[in-house]
Amino acid sequence: MTTILGITGSLRRASTNTGLLRALAEMAPAHVKMDIADLHGIPMFNEDDEAATGKPESVKALDARIRAADGIVIACPEYNFSVPGVLKNATDWLSRGGSPFRWKRVGIVGAGGGQFVGTARAQYHFRQNLQALQAITMPRPEVFVNHNEEKFDAQGNLTDAETRRYLAKWLESFLEWVETRP
Ligand SMILES: Cc1cc2nc3c(=O)[nH]c(=O)nc-3n(C[C@H](O)[C@H](O)[C@H](O)COP(=O)(O)O)c2cc1C
Repeated sequence: MTTILGITGSLRRASTNTGLLRALAEMAPAHVKMDIADLHGIPMFNEDDEAATGKPESVKALDARIRAADGIVIACPEYNFSVPGVLKNATDWLSRGGSPFRWKRVGIVGAGGGQFVGTARAQYHFRQNLQALQAITMPRPEVFVNHNEEKFDAQGNLTDAETRRYLAKWLESFLEWVETRP
């Protein structure tokens, strides 16, 4: 059994990035268990709060889920050409006192609106953050879904057949990379 944890960087109910993770979980082969975590309940990082009360339970729970997984997939939306604050904030908490990402295999995917570069700018900034957390990020293939308004339904489910095919191939590569650890 291979365990994969998907983490979505969007808090939106109908998030297309969460939809990408749901699609991956649906496609996963029988020997793979893929769960999805979101970042609801993680407060803004403040060193004074950390000194007073330590890590919040929400951060400790996410930390434990990351440690328990064989591989992590992070769906990274793009806000203002970079990583959304909620995702960056979560990594700041997780980086404290020993990163759960240390030597962990991490794949990054993302979906964005319009004809833009499908979260590429955000993903490349996020790779840099993950470097600080000692994660091992998969170099490629990459997933940059653009025109998400045409490829997902109103609930954020991935409906575009070509994108689903591409994602299935990406998942195959990701699982091979996690399971064989070259
Ligand atoms: C504050 C804000 C900034 C955004 N900036 C960008 C951007 O720089 N590039 C981009 O491709 N999309 C941008 N978008 C559009 C998001 O990519 C789009 O809303 C996407 O659906 C968000 O992901 P989600 O569906 O998972 O919530 C922005 C959206 C918001 C709310």
